[in-house]
Amino acid sequence: MSAAQHAATSMADGDQDSSRPWSVEVRRTPAGAPDVTAAERLAADLRVGLAQDPPSIPPKWFYDDKGSLLFDEITRLEEYYPTRTEEAILRSSADEIAALSEAATLVELGAGYSRKTRLLLEALTSGGRELLYVPLDVAEEPLRDTAVRVVAAHPTVEVRALVADFEDDLRPLPGEGAPRLVAFLGSTIGNLLPDDRAAFLSRLCNAMDPGDALLLGADLVKDPGRLVAAYDDARGVTAAFNKNVVDVLARELGADLDPDDFDHVAVWNADAERIEMRLRARRDLTVRIDALDLDWSLPAGSEVLTETSHKFRVEGVQAELRAAGLTPVRTWTDEADDFSLTLARREA
Ligand SMILES: C[S@@+](CC[C@H](N)C(=O)[O-])C[C@H]1O[C@@H](n2cnc3c(N)ncnc32)[C@H](O)[C@@H]1O
Repeated sequence: MSAAQHAATSMADGDQDSSRPWSVEVRRTPAGAPDVTAAERLAADLRVGLAQDPPSIPPKWFYDDKGSLLFDEITRLEEYYPTRTEEAILRSSADEIAALSEAATLVELGAGYSRKTRLLLEALTSGGRELLYVPLDVAEEPLRDTAVRVVAAHPTVEVRALVADFEDDLRPLPGEGAPRLVAFLGSTIGNLLPDDRAAFLSRLCNAMDPGDALLLGADLVKDPGRLVAAYDDARGVTAAFNKNVVDVLARELGADLDPDDFDHVAVWNADAERIEMRLRARRDLTVRIDALDLDWSLPAGSEVLTETSHKFRVEGVQAELRAAGLTPVRTWTDEADDFSLTLARREA
């Protein structure tokens, strides 16, 4: 049974004009789960998150159309070294990754605009090989943009994009019967708390077949000054990205919230080895959220945690992969050891 038959709630768009097909499916995961609206999912996440200390909002809610574009802008900022560093590592390692994985399908989790992925697509299709590319993201607009660009630039690539949550059970992964490479780039893994990360990696390993490989991008521990600057740039693009979640809450839940009532805060938590992005209330706020039947009180100065970005050590990444059932094959880093890419295989 195909993923589309199994789990799609809607499907669109094979482009009739391009030589290769592409599609964007909204995939309900786990398969057979009841269809819920974005507002219902956000309300459920907030019910859990706002009861925590400090109150928190899962970072996936940053990425509406505007948030996705703002993140794309962040990746080009001078202060934001992770994207260009990971891209440089990919440029020198993509051929080896392709040879080691022998993949006929590339699944990319949290793909966004898939800019760096071009290097993997080129390596995996060298010599005219055919490839199924499955970018997966909660944000639909970047996937549509990617699908059009990729089929135009890579004549032997078929794109089947999935709008889905990578924290759900991803079975069945498209591309059964031939080796897959699952790419999880940008150190998005760092946005998961340690227990959630372990659960995510185990679920992913279970969704992979023996012989499939995972390529994991992980940002490494470094000078806190550089880290904080990467999350609090001089032009204020990251601040706008952070505050965009306030607009998402207001729009999706009808909450009476204004981004101007918050300051963007980025701090290095040395004990947990993570950057924390927070929103700090500029004044006493009481926010009515009808969807939660909640009057949410935020005294001036109180903070909401909107993103944790864990920084890693190579041994730690490899240990977490092993604990999930994946065997590290090779790790690449840049000269300054700012960023790492690890290829790990699911053994038989
Ligand atoms: C930090 S960005 C990385 C984008 C891109 N992979 C890169 O390396 O530049 C995180 C991406 O993951 C997506 N994302 C975040 N949480 C997600 C989730 N739970 N399920 C699926 N996609 C998610 C976001 O929409 C965004 O495109």
